[in-house]
Amino acid sequence: MKVPMVCEGGDFDMKHFHDIVEMRWSRRSVLSGVGAWLAASTGIGCTSKEGGLSTEKASDHAGLVVDAPLVFQEVPGASDTYLEVPAGFRADVICRWGDPLWPDAPPFDPYQQTGQAQARQWGTNNDFLGLLPLEPVQGRDRVLLVANHEYCSVAMMHPEPRHPDGPIGDQQAAVEMSAHGMSVVVLERSEGLWERVDSELTRRITAHTAMKISGPVKGHRRVRTDADPNGEKVFGTLHNCSGTVTPWGTVLSGEENFRYSFRFVDEPGKPEAENHRAFRLAADPLYPWDRIEPRFDTAKYPNEPNRFGWIVEVDPFDPTSDPVKRTALGRFAHEGAALTMTPDGRAVLYMGDDAREQCLYRFVSDAPRRDGAATTSLLDSGTLYAARFEADGTAKWIPLTHGFGPLVGENGFQDQGDVLIDARRAAHLVGATPMDRPERIEFHPLTGEAYVMLTNNRKRKNADAANPRAPNEDGHIVVMAPGRSTAGEADHTADVFRWDLFLLAGRQTLPEEFSDMGFTAETTLDGRFRGPDNCVFDPGGRLWVCTDADDNAVHGNGVFVVETDTQRGAYARRFLRAPIGAEVTGPCFSADGTTLFVSIQHPGSAGEKPCFERPACRWPDYDDQLPPRSSVVAITREDGKPFVPTQS
Ligand code: FEO
Ligand code: CA
Ligand code: CA
Ligand code: CA
Repeated sequence: MKVPMVCEGGDFDMKHFHDIVEMRWSRRSVLSGVGAWLAASTGIGCTSKEGGLSTEKASDHAGLVVDAPLVFQEVPGASDTYLEVPAGFRADVICRWGDPLWPDAPPFDPYQQTGQAQARQWGTNNDFLGLLPLEPVQGRDRVLLVANHEYCSVAMMHPEPRHPDGPIGDQQAAVEMSAHGMSVVVLERSEGLWERVDSELTRRITAHTAMKISGPVKGHRRVRTDADPNGEKVFGTLHNCSGTVTPWGTVLSGEENFRYSFRFVDEPGKPEAENHRAFRLAADPLYPWDRIEPRFDTAKYPNEPNRFGWIVEVDPFDPTSDPVKRTALGRFAHEGAALTMTPDGRAVLYMGDDAREQCLYRFVSDAPRRDGAATTSLLDSGTLYAARFEADGTAKWIPLTHGFGPLVGENGFQDQGDVLIDARRAAHLVGATPMDRPERIEFHPLTGEAYVMLTNNRKRKNADAANPRAPNEDGHIVVMAPGRSTAGEADHTADVFRWDLFLLAGRQTLPEEFSDMGFTAETTLDGRFRGPDNCVFDPGGRLWVCTDADDNAVHGNGVFVVETDTQRGAYARRFLRAPIGAEVTGPCFSADGTTLFVSIQHPGSAGEKPCFERPACRWPDYDDQLPPRSSVVAITREDGKPFVPTQS
């Protein structure tokens, strides 16, 4: 398929792209002998026409256009209080922590902040950003923006230091609980620039929003509490990290580090103690919310943590709807979910458990989605799997099903509810591979491969093929190629797949044994990154990686454009540099390719004990009276033209 070009530069050869990708797999196959194994067992021939990605198939499958090389002047790495994008681009702040979301909501005043005010303002540290289309109004484009609010930068948020007791501490806890959760707002484009507008769809979801528990754990004995004896209703979603937009117009959001909100004193005989230990709940939690809500004290409510750590589904088109915790997808430190649909309409989700030595998961729904149906149960019934990676480049999905292998009563699994609540323990028991902190996962739009960001693992002691550095200071990217159906199509329900290392990140020269797995030679020092965390593909197959590295005060975190049509290693360029202390999250493109939206999290969080009085920067307001504020930023070309390809 010949394709329209949207950027300057030379031609882009689709066949070249797929030849290169197949060469990468073929090379891996030769090294490992996996090609013959796969050909025999699944019909996959790594270099055969049947197994290869033909140009026609890839184009048809994706329904996308491919672009010319993206030309921009690379942004240097540096320590700076400003956010920088390439010459010819602009970055506009759209929503800041504390912005009032309704005309009658209180203005942001960090010196007089209350929980009630914060519940009507944009929350803190937005991570995931999802865009859903709306009809234009008076010729102006509109989109629904759904964001997560992952956590609070406590020291920079409150003008008073954290109070151990008394009303100030109570108010601080109330503010923090309202600053978590999610926001739904409408954005409108006027004269090429996006701004938030008032709408009846505007919504805040906080630690107090009523939500339902659905799926196999609904009503389970281990999610019942005194306040909810039926185990089917919970207040709040917490520490939501990444997520995805579904084809049926909802958002899936991962509850990640819920452990920070619960007090757990580890003493003999405590109920749920092994479970709470597995999630590293602590006696001195980062958020001491149990001071105003006893449910956060596991001594009183040992089951309350079991009601967090799920994927939450939100219908942003109905502000009165209860979000739903989809328990069939398992309970762990959910980074988020990557969703793809099978040709017969089943939902497949790839999910990561972002903690050291934790695993990758897949869910396959039992039922196909009915045409046009807004799903209410698609994600409540299906099979959860965990991934085991072999050194020969093969891997398999192992079912986490009650009664399978060790997932039986003598190991503490009385039913499927136990398996799902303790999915982390179940995955290890069946032999899944402990990974180096799986962060966001995205599917390549042209090949169907899943790219997994593994951010780091400084405590890894034993390297393995899929996590080859011990310790892993800089992170890496693994690519997972789904099996194939007998018709040669990518089949995300297949239980065997191929995998490879796409990139070992870091600025240093890699040792000889890894020398072809790093950045390509033309990648500059500015383009070399560590700590891959969030990512998004543009429709042309470029991976945009957002970093969360702890040396951000020197180089700045950023957004890096990574070409994926290389045999080995990755050609990367820095597109954005975040203000000092910040990480970049939530990347997503507008459908017309003109705008990249990102979240800027925890600006100013660098140096010696940054706090309200002394943050490392005061982005984006640069007002001596205001703390730095996490925000959503829209990046556009100054001429308003698309800079990534559009979906056809
Ligand atoms: Fe919230 Fe795994 O980053
Ligand atoms: Ca993340
Ligand atoms: Ca991270
Ligand atoms: Ca992060």
